[in-house]
Amino acid sequence: MPTMNQGVMHDDLESVLFREDAILSRLDEIASQITRDYAGRNLTVVAILHGGLIMVADLLRRVRLPLKMECISVESYHGGVESSGAVEFNVARMPDFTGEHVLVIDDILDSGRTLDAIVRKVTAECHPESVRVGVLLDKKTRRAAEIEPDYTGFEIDDLFVVGYGLDYQGRYRNLPLIGTLKEECILPEHRR
Ligand code: IMP
Ligand code: MG
Repeated sequence: MPTMNQGVMHDDLESVLFREDAILSRLDEIASQITRDYAGRNLTVVAILHGGLIMVADLLRRVRLPLKMECISVESYHGGVESSGAVEFNVARMPDFTGEHVLVIDDILDSGRTLDAIVRKVTAECHPESVRVGVLLDKKTRRAAEIEPDYTGFEIDDLFVVGYGLDYQGRYRNLPLIGTLKEECILPEHRR
């Protein structure tokens, strides 16, 4: 098993890419943009669980508009460090977005397959007025599906990162920063 330092998650980090103050000031900017873009419209923000949850919580409190929030739970990663390509929806029934402009928020666009599948399904089944996408991180060089975010926190290189919603094996989502893990904290079969 990888050694996860009990209690001191920061000790598992190799490097820090974005600290909390940088993330929050970027969210201030994105929230202002969203406030301008959706003024006078019915806005529903959809958090993609679990990764999008932390960003949505901090972002929505900065948006100065009346809005609704929904959550959609999907599984696309299955514990490794590479996207599986198959997206599973853990929902009994998709929500109805009639009359609503929908903004889907996830932690990261990697291959893009997850958000591409979500946008297609929401468009086909939920009757939205419009659908746009926001992500905290964009790994542009990794894209396999044809999807571009409408709102992006930061572009990053092809690195496996954790924190601020992003996990490795379910852990590290609550780190208030984004960083890379030390090699000894990653299972041998997931190292690259
Ligand atoms: P995609 O379908 O390849 O775009 O993968 C998107 C999902 O993969 C995200 O919602 C994350 O859960 C996960 N993911 C992609 N890159 C990373 C990473 O660097 N760290 C943690 N999770 C990641
Ligand atoms: Mg995720």
